[in-house]
Amino acid sequence: MTADELRSKYIEFFKSKGHVEISGKSLVPENDPTVLFTTAGMHPLVPYLMGETHPAGQRLTDYQKCIRTGDIDEVGDSSHLTFFEMLGNWSLGDYFKKEAIFFSFEFLTGKDYLGIPPDKISVTVFAGDSSVPRDDESAGIWHSLGIPEERIHFLPRSDNWWGPAGETGPCGPDTEMFIDTGIPACGDSCRPGCHCGKYIEIWNDVFMQYNKLKDGTYEKLSRKCVDTGMGIERTVAMLNGKKSVYDTDIFRPVIAAVESVSGKKYGQNEDNDISIRIICDHVRAATFIIGDPKSVVPSNVGAGYVLRRLIRRAVRHGRKLGIEGEFLSKISEVVVRQYAVPYPEVAGKADFIYAELKAEEAKFLQTLKKGEAEFEKMLPNLLKNPRKVIPGRLAFKLYDTYGFPIELTEELASENGFTVDREEFNEAFKKHQELSRVGGDQIFKGGLADHSEQTTAYHTATHLLHQALSMVLGSHVAQKGSNITAERLRFDFTHPQAMTKEEIARVEQIVNEQIKADLPVTMEVMPLEKAKKLGARALFGEKYENMVKVYSIGNFSKEVCGGPHVEHTGGMGVFKIQKEQSSSAGVRRIRAVLIKE
Ligand code: ALA
Repeated sequence: MTADELRSKYIEFFKSKGHVEISGKSLVPENDPTVLFTTAGMHPLVPYLMGETHPAGQRLTDYQKCIRTGDIDEVGDSSHLTFFEMLGNWSLGDYFKKEAIFFSFEFLTGKDYLGIPPDKISVTVFAGDSSVPRDDESAGIWHSLGIPEERIHFLPRSDNWWGPAGETGPCGPDTEMFIDTGIPACGDSCRPGCHCGKYIEIWNDVFMQYNKLKDGTYEKLSRKCVDTGMGIERTVAMLNGKKSVYDTDIFRPVIAAVESVSGKKYGQNEDNDISIRIICDHVRAATFIIGDPKSVVPSNVGAGYVLRRLIRRAVRHGRKLGIEGEFLSKISEVVVRQYAVPYPEVAGKADFIYAELKAEEAKFLQTLKKGEAEFEKMLPNLLKNPRKVIPGRLAFKLYDTYGFPIELTEELASENGFTVDREEFNEAFKKHQELSRVGGDQIFKGGLADHSEQTTAYHTATHLLHQALSMVLGSHVAQKGSNITAERLRFDFTHPQAMTKEEIARVEQIVNEQIKADLPVTMEVMPLEKAKKLGARALFGEKYENMVKVYSIGNFSKEVCGGPHVEHTGGMGVFKIQKEQSSSAGVRRIRAVLIKE
């Protein structure tokens, strides 16, 4: 079965069970301060899992592009990926454990669907702990479907609890489905969850019942929800009896492209294979990141920095394979072609993607030449050091003077049997970098937004700001990005030059007038076309459902948005713009706070 077939079958199956297909969202989450990329299918649905009504209803299904950079260093082995697609079905306060498990079982075993023999399926369920009881209900449901007790395993929170993706947010016990590959068990304790390769996890049904709060306690969600996730790449590998995702139809054409530019064959030399896999994964991820409706480009901050790191690592591995000169866009072309139907937005930006890849590649090749030469120069001295540790200040010099990323210094170091004194590097780094930069550690932590009262107020303030900006600066003002924490809002928008002091003061004044007026905030679900006719703002390039939620703030602002928002603007505090600066060419960035009176 190909990835395309799996995607269609899944969506068709859940549609036949009363689910509405919704479109996957951008790889860059809107209004989520703690994470740079969409990390799971449930990610764009967090507000709805937390209780907001969804315009498409209570049963939803979709495929969602995801990026997880948490184990970027593991990429190169045969299973880890930074970019992947996740299939999902959701119940927002509709069905719960029984139907969710019945649906999963029918899709896995049904002969019109995946047709997996039931005796190959093992499942795990939550074993319970001091705060949440053992999930006997799920175990009983599996048993009623013919899964014998010896293939139902009760595992602790570390295995059978999902979320929150960050520090706070929706979470709950889950039941995970594993397929037995048929290889012998690695020992007596081998069971689903063991990493020897006998059992492959392909699906996870999460029973969302709790919201984890900042203080570590759990409160019950207002309604019980189901969140499920099936990774396309891993499932395709399993269905075709392949040990590795790289042996599937998804990667074969990409690998062929790397073989053709490098002249190296896949499957003949382990070191080359690692480099080939890293190039395939990283170019795939970079293609989707640049090709996203929110267009991330390489930079030294946030998502742009992750992108830069992916591109640079791919280039370096290209050089290890002996590739000279520019090659990434050739690999990217294969990816763009492959995903033209499920992700037309990527194909629509093909030329932009290739141009960005080429520019970054050229820049980095220069850096690389200088940095590698400098490292070689340092090496004889370093070899005298019996601890085999590269001082952080040297790593920092490579970064600061030659733009050589610390991760690459670490890679070069480890190839030569060294480690890098990361603590000393971090100290030097902190001293030299502006604090606003998102550091490597933070970037890879991941997490979800804090939906506290304060972030809700900032969300509403963002709508007020957006409207005020277009009144003061003109109708060309369009939202380019929004990022909210409990402490501030950040808003990126199109505008060709810096705002004047007067313009800033005027925008503040307008927003504060709306707050003082204590305007009611109302929500109405309507067809997208109607929303547009009514003049509601919508994000350019964002994919919307047919039915959307429109939030109105008095008669002042109207925007298509998922929510949540405050009910009245009064009491939000005094709105103050702290900073107005350039974000990228033609895009300005505002940082603003609400000061409580
Ligand atoms: N949110 C769950 C996961 O990502 C389904 O595994």
